[in-house]
Amino acid sequence: MTLFTHRPPAATRPLVVRTRAELAEARATLDDGDVAVVMTMGALHEGHRELIRQAAQRARHVVVTIFLNPLQFGPGEDLSRYPRTVDDDVELCAREGVDVVFTPTPDVVYPDGDPGVRVSAGPLGDVLEGRSRPGHFDGVLTVVGKLIHLTRPHAVYYGQKDAQQLLLIRRMVRDLDFGVEVVAVPTVREDDGLALSSRNVYLTASDRESALALSRALRAGADAASEGPSAVRRAARQVLVEEPLAMVDYLVLVHPTTLEDVPEWYRGEALLAVAARVGTTRLIDNQPLLVGPGGGPLAASGGQR
Ligand code: PAJ
Repeated sequence: MTLFTHRPPAATRPLVVRTRAELAEARATLDDGDVAVVMTMGALHEGHRELIRQAAQRARHVVVTIFLNPLQFGPGEDLSRYPRTVDDDVELCAREGVDVVFTPTPDVVYPDGDPGVRVSAGPLGDVLEGRSRPGHFDGVLTVVGKLIHLTRPHAVYYGQKDAQQLLLIRRMVRDLDFGVEVVAVPTVREDDGLALSSRNVYLTASDRESALALSRALRAGADAASEGPSAVRRAARQVLVEEPLAMVDYLVLVHPTTLEDVPEWYRGEALLAVAARVGTTRLIDNQPLLVGPGGGPLAASGGQR
């Protein structure tokens, strides 16, 4: 029996496009009004794969963008050493049945050089990650806005792993009426708890041991969720204190949409977030929580969508 599906045979997928004209032509063939986009900077891993899988489950067509966006890297950050594995990335996309992979170079995305007009992340872009990485979220939102315009998706998929990025993209889509559905995908972890990240390749074996303190701290915090905010913070901090090779930048328990520290009387959804340098690598992780009676870990902040 022949099974007819909406997807072309696997051998012809994905279509890899590099220019705006190629993308526009490829996008025009996906004309049935159901296109999901997964944006990445490449070096794809199981976390990215999960975004692609969830997108493919709900949309007829999936477009993956692979673009190492210079605008979101500060001076002295890891742009030049960021892992580049485009051939493997395209292969992963092929295995997942992705329709189109857009891999532009900076001159395609920014034909006039660095854009003078940018999206401002506003006050939420100045805290947590933004405090350590000034301008980072303006760079992220500017490229996300451009990629939404270029790919014209109905839904975009982002990982809970980058909780502040996810929140700011939701805000941009709402505040600036982008008219696209934003879907959150829970963080994918190694069996030992380490959150998958393209940057994990920088970790030496001993760095990796120290890095486990981040997810351990989040779990300890989650285990204390029923006792209230200060118990959560105390339990998480205790784990990090015991791993001096993890140089903590911040450990916070904040409201999931305002990113303000939750007061001691607070009960409800909160975000326990941590950033630390291990060796030469800056790592972030977070755990959405329900704080209060019956509290504990949640899959993603603000529900799945
Ligand atoms: P990148 O770090 O490549 O991540 C691409 C997407 O994968 C993001 O939505 C991120 O949150 C998600 N992701 C990464 N690790 C994950 C994990 N362990 N579990 C679940 N999802 C995970 O984030 C960016 O690129 C860029 O800032 C981008 C949005 C592409 C703009 O340049």
